[in-house]
Amino acid sequence: MTAPAGQATTALPTVLRNGVVALGLADVGQPVRGVALTGGVASDIWRADLPGGPICVKRALGRLRVDSEWIVPTNRTAFEAAWLRAADAARPGAACRVIGFDPDSGVLALAWLDPTDHSNWRSELSAGHVDAAVAAALGDRLGHLHAAMADPDRFAAAFAAGELFRALRLDPYFAVTASAHPVLAATLDALVDRTASTGSTVIHGDVSPKNVLVGPDGPVLVDAECASWGDPAFDVAFCISHLLLKAIWHPGDTRRLLEASHRFATSYLAHVAWEQPDALAGRAAMLVPALALARVDGASPVDYLDAPERDHVRQRATELLLGPPDGLNELLDRWPDDTWSKP
Ligand SMILES: Nc1ncnc2c1ncn2[C@@H]1O[C@H](COP(=O)(O)OP(=O)(O)O)[C@@H](O)[C@H]1O
Ligand SMILES: [Mg+2]
Repeated sequence: MTAPAGQATTALPTVLRNGVVALGLADVGQPVRGVALTGGVASDIWRADLPGGPICVKRALGRLRVDSEWIVPTNRTAFEAAWLRAADAARPGAACRVIGFDPDSGVLALAWLDPTDHSNWRSELSAGHVDAAVAAALGDRLGHLHAAMADPDRFAAAFAAGELFRALRLDPYFAVTASAHPVLAATLDALVDRTASTGSTVIHGDVSPKNVLVGPDGPVLVDAECASWGDPAFDVAFCISHLLLKAIWHPGDTRRLLEASHRFATSYLAHVAWEQPDALAGRAAMLVPALALARVDGASPVDYLDAPERDHVRQRATELLLGPPDGLNELLDRWPDDTWSKP
């Protein structure tokens, strides 16, 4: 994900350097060197080496690096900066600290989360290190943040990013998937309508393991470009759908991934006081199979599943969408298929 230690540095691209200067982090004319980070599809993101130490600088791309043409307004970085700030204030350390945001250049400067003591959770899971305690800590932090921001007077107008959320999430995930699965189109359309019209807190919108850096004080969320006043069930379902896709990819880890999903959900739901926890869990249980299917047939497919694995996701998700589970426990009971194994 991040640049290996010792990798050669190059001059920062001009637009990023200009942002660093505008934020008062470097002098005009002072060269700034760094290393491009990989792993995301939505941004130019670099480690910038300043005299006081490295920072992370990020600028949103207008056209995302995926096969399909996916254009999204770059004003999303303002919401990302606002979410990271609000989250860090509500629960210090739960989100990456913002150093500054320059709206003119669109450059966001963030504290550097050193890869020597922050591992990307996706890399950990991919390597078979499924630590349920990390999932539980993430659920606890996400629940804390949702509870802290479940205040429409303070947050609804500040995070009125419904159009961006539609462009980044509802259309590319569900509308594109519905057109590939006519038999599921009505169900997916109804899920979109419900998700778009449910607003009770500020959601992160991209709680994927690759956006969780596990540090010495616990999991830290990054990449809040999809933050919006919205349905918290979306964040819960987004994270669980990734864990369940990993179970199809690595069937030998299924039991531990299900345990991680349970721990995540339980510690999250303990914070839900703004509505009935069962109601939220019920919405999440429908969103999980829809999101899993969207990561196969939507605009941003995961890169690690082969053709038989993708077919298996289609089969599992279709069954659950046509015969909806009654809550997250039933969903997690029904997701594994004992006949599914890989050579
Ligand atoms: N503050 C940071 N310090 C160190 N690495 C980071 C930091 N923020 C992000 N990264 C790394 O860069 C990757 C891409 O960043 P991210 O904000 O998720 O961009 P994108 O929007 O392109 O997905 C992350 O998955 C993470 O591994
Ligand atoms: Mg990311």
